[in-house]
Amino acid sequence: MLNSADNTLLTRIGPGTPMGRMLREYWVPACRSAKLEIDGAPEKVRLFGENFVAFRATDGRVGFLQEACPHRCASLRLARNEGNGLRCIFHGWKFSVEGKCVDAPTEPRSQRERFAQSVPVRSHPTHEAGGLVWVYMGEKETPPPFPDFEFTQLPDSHVFPLRGIIRTNWLQGLEALLDSAHVTFLHATNLDSAIGRELFQEESDMMLGDGAPIFEFDEKPYGFTEGAIRTELGDHDYARVREVALPFFSFIPAAPTGPRIVCCSIPIDDVTTAQWYISYNVDAPVDGSNLTLMGNWSGNPDHFNADMGDESNLWHQDRAAMKDGHWSGIVNRGNPYEDFAVQESMGAIVDRSQEYLGTCDRVIYRARRLLLDAVRQFDEDGTLSFTGARVDYTSIRALSFAFAKEENWRDVRQKLLADFQTDGGGVPAQI
Ligand code: FES
Ligand SMILES: [Fe+2]
Repeated sequence: MLNSADNTLLTRIGPGTPMGRMLREYWVPACRSAKLEIDGAPEKVRLFGENFVAFRATDGRVGFLQEACPHRCASLRLARNEGNGLRCIFHGWKFSVEGKCVDAPTEPRSQRERFAQSVPVRSHPTHEAGGLVWVYMGEKETPPPFPDFEFTQLPDSHVFPLRGIIRTNWLQGLEALLDSAHVTFLHATNLDSAIGRELFQEESDMMLGDGAPIFEFDEKPYGFTEGAIRTELGDHDYARVREVALPFFSFIPAAPTGPRIVCCSIPIDDVTTAQWYISYNVDAPVDGSNLTLMGNWSGNPDHFNADMGDESNLWHQDRAAMKDGHWSGIVNRGNPYEDFAVQESMGAIVDRSQEYLGTCDRVIYRARRLLLDAVRQFDEDGTLSFTGARVDYTSIRALSFAFAKEENWRDVRQKLLADFQTDGGGVPAQI
């Protein structure tokens, strides 16, 4: 549990709040790169309770501006995208990728240029990597180093980002992404299904076979490594070793090579969150993910769960299917649909003072503690945790593997990672 003051400190991310100020200091995914066409429609992006538009200019660069036109607040989603800038359709003022007003044709010609230069425009730096447009919304002149995770260095063909949108606070999203115990229960039917067994092979039985993993942690400059060790499986043990790059990213354990997923929970506002599921494969192109393979989805990569239902229909839970043996009753859907239903069922901002935590929640407790320490530190002296030159983002890789009982999971993991690094990691030749 968490007292109400700490819960508020962690969950409120609007302008001026301590957590909102801190989280804005990290690079965050704003939208899919493929969504922005040269001189095409500006894309609305709501982040941290504020509204923006992203657009791709004539020369291919991406601009990120306040949605409301600085003149009289008409939406720049309606703007013309031409000549390396957005031109508001109301009075024709034009704004560049750099966030400057470059034309104000309603002003007398003699003072137009000077007037345009005086118009305040809010814009933020962007960076494209891993099939995503990232934005830095912080206050610093120089943004922190870009988190060059493995997937951000792959060609777009090797990365498949999908965005879910949930009607909850960002921390509920993050906590669901950290929780290694729930898979045995919430996702039991998917793990046991034909497609689940095809995707996870013998690991399905290992996840299903022990619902009380032992948790062990290693602190890392970017957050922590979480080993969830299942020891009740017979003659071997099973480790799911998650990498948590705070404040947003959870790398989901997977076999040492092949397709994998990293997830992140990015605040749209206090009660709405973008939950990204980014599939990638260093060895081969990807055009789908566990999520799209495991069941029906909306077909919209920018809101893959648009068809998930809500509290009024209990997220389409099917009681008859449950009587028939389906665990969650959320039938023919990928795991995130089950995750999202339970997350939303807690309410938009769960009151963590009402919880009763157990052993399986050690990871949740740990993440909250680290985030509380980080936000207090940031509030006190501006120090930003979990980032900086010493952080090696590229080598972060979450693994799952079976191992002999007499072995130590940390040693096995080290060996697997070393094997991966010495064989070049199968990184495609064009990189
Ligand atoms: S409101 Fe945009 S130019 Fe007037
Ligand atoms: Fe889950």
